Amino acid sequence: MTIGIVIVAAGRGERAGSPQEGPKQYRPIGGRPVIAHTLETFLNWHRSGPIVTVIHPDDEGLYAASVSTLPRAKEVLTTFGGDTRQRSVYEGLRALAATGATHVMIHDAARPFVDLALLDRIAATLDAGHDGVLPAMSVADTLKRGGADGLVHETVPRAGLYAAQTPQSFALNEIRSAHEKAAALRRDDFTDDASIAEWAGLPVVLIEGSADNIKLTVKRDIEMADERLSRQATRMPLPDVRTGNGYDVHQLVPGDGVTLCGVFMPHDQKLSGHSDADVALHALTDALLATCGAGDIGDHFPPSDMQWKGAASRIFLEHAAKIVREHGGTIMNADVSLIAEAPKVGPHREAMRRNLSEFLDIDMERCSVKATTNETIGFVGRREGIAAIATATVVFQKD
Ligand code: CTP
Ligand code: MG
Repeated sequence: MTIGIVIVAAGRGERAGSPQEGPKQYRPIGGRPVIAHTLETFLNWHRSGPIVTVIHPDDEGLYAASVSTLPRAKEVLTTFGGDTRQRSVYEGLRALAATGATHVMIHDAARPFVDLALLDRIAATLDAGHDGVLPAMSVADTLKRGGADGLVHETVPRAGLYAAQTPQSFALNEIRSAHEKAAALRRDDFTDDASIAEWAGLPVVLIEGSADNIKLTVKRDIEMADERLSRQATRMPLPDVRTGNGYDVHQLVPGDGVTLCGVFMPHDQKLSGHSDADVALHALTDALLATCGAGDIGDHFPPSDMQWKGAASRIFLEHAAKIVREHGGTIMNADVSLIAEAPKVGPHREAMRRNLSEFLDIDMERCSVKATTNETIGFVGRREGIAAIATATVVFQKD
């Protein structure tokens, strides 16, 4: 199943007024044009097939400017719409049919708050074998029928009544034939696609829409959408993500093996140092401390202090992780690069990552160990020492 997308954006937005402000789908809400919000959601949806946007011939420049900040806007096809929404959808379906899509979601550009969860619900209904799906909300208000005389004529029972939303979704061939039939019979008064499907006898399943998925119709809708996005933006400050780096070197002297990231590797040399000289953990300890301005490893564990003689360096790393957490930090990633001519780190890499994951109490996926030689040059190349560079990424809670 390939779910193509048709986004109709060829309307003139007469009910939203002020012709000088242009069609509503190009007006800014939350600092970006309405259509950029709409299109972005479909571009981000993992099941979107080809996307066709149906625009008015007068709006080519407006459209190009409105979507220019979307990284994948170039993948979106465009075609020109007609005088009615029905005609615009028809043009979109024709363009989509050439792409090989088997199903289609038909969406109003003027509904920028469509969300991925709704798209998933619709797709799941298509997956279950239904060829027509209509997201809708049950009507909450009491409904009245008024007359030309300005008086209430009757109260309409609201049980079983729904307000239709988009995207409405169908098997592409079926909805396209229904549109063709309507066009051939000059029926051009359908305001949505589910009503064409009903008219053509195609079954349409009702599913729960989304309360946020409103259509911007009048000027006030656009103002409220803008206010809502601005409120959200002030409530969601940028995340406090910090990175720290660390570097360490220890000298190699004759011996029987080295300890890197807490893993002992037999070798004809050993690293000399006050503790177990695990350069990898020392560099990472500094990287972690750097994310909260907590100094460096020497400040916390002075080499002059006899109690750290021969100490396992995991103590230093665990201490740095504790300090980070006390500052409100969550460790997102720990990355170590070793620069060593020998021993070969590759066979021990998984054990080293497992250790980092245990010492830092984070997923192994967030722990990385890499190694490179120094191409026989310099002190590392002459096997006089091993160097390590580390980067830690930590997200801090804001008070
Ligand atoms: N639409 C379209 N082609 C048309 C009319 C409407 O592509 N000839 C699109 C609109 O751009 C909108 C969606 O269909 O995204 C829903 O239509 P509506 O809310 O009625 O928008 P407008 O027709 O632009 O507004 P109005 O009816 O107030 O003029
Ligand atoms: Mg309209």
